Amino acid sequence: MSRNAPIGIFDSGMGGLSVWRELRRELPCESVVYLADGKNCPYGERSAEEIASLTRAAVEELLARGAKLIIVACNTATAMAIDMLRKDYDIPFVGMEPAVKPAALSSRSGVIGILATQAALAGGLFRATSARYSSQVEILSAVGEGFVEVVERGAEESPEAESLVRRVLEPMIEAGADRIVLGCTHYPFLEGSMRRVIGTREVELVNPAPAVVRRAKWLLEQSGELAEEGHKAELSFVTFADDEYLARLKARATNIDECR
Ligand code: DGL
Repeated sequence: MSRNAPIGIFDSGMGGLSVWRELRRELPCESVVYLADGKNCPYGERSAEEIASLTRAAVEELLARGAKLIIVACNTATAMAIDMLRKDYDIPFVGMEPAVKPAALSSRSGVIGILATQAALAGGLFRATSARYSSQVEILSAVGEGFVEVVERGAEESPEAESLVRRVLEPMIEAGADRIVLGCTHYPFLEGSMRRVIGTREVELVNPAPAVVRRAKWLLEQSGELAEEGHKAELSFVTFADDEYLARLKARATNIDECR
C-alpha cells in the first residue's frame, strides 16, 4: 500500500464531517475519501443487521478507492459493525469511542449525560463503557430526537434545532450533569444551539473526534504509512444518494476546510 494512498472515512451522512474536520487539522498532507451514505440515513433506528450490511457496502466502496485505513466516523455503525469489519478485512479500522471515560474522570458534579442514537445506546460498546464508570458517576443517557435530520438538512442554526436540543439537554443539566458526551458524529454540528441552551452554566461538551483522529495518526505512524511530508492532499467525496446531496456535502466540506 502506498504511503500516499487515501484515508477512508464513512458515516451514514454528513455528521462524519465533524471527524473529517479534525483529520484535516491534524493530518493536512493526507488524501481523504469521505463516503456519506446519505440514501439510508438515519441509521439510528435501523436494525443491527441492516446497519452491518450498509456499513459493509460502504467499506467495500472505500477499499475499491484504495483506502489504507478506514475511520468509521459513525458511533452507530461502530457499535453495530466494528468487530465484524476487523475480522473480515485486512486493513486497520478506527471506530468512534464513546467518550464516557474523559467525561466521568473530569466531572465535578458526579453526573454526566450521554447523547447518542437509539442503536448506539443499545450497542455493547456504550453499555460496557457505561458499566465501567457507573460506580464513579451517575450516567444519564438520551437519544437526540430529530438531531440527525436537522443536521442533514443544514438547519442546525434554526429555532427548530434549538428547541430540539433544549428538550433533551435541559433535563440532563437540571439533573446536575456538567459533562455532555456527544455520542453521535452529527451532534457537534449542533454545538451552537447547545451552547445557547447551556448559557452561563458550567457544562462542557465532550467530543471524541480529536482522540479518534490521534488514534488513526498513531496507527499510520506505527505502520510507516503516514503520507510523505509535503504531499498534496486530494480530497474526494462519495455518496449513495443523488448529485444534489453530493453537491451539498462538498459545499459543506469546503466551508469547514476554509474555517479550520
Ligand atoms: N452520525 C451517526 C452516529 O455517529 C449516525 C446517525 C444516524 O444515521 O442515525 O451515530
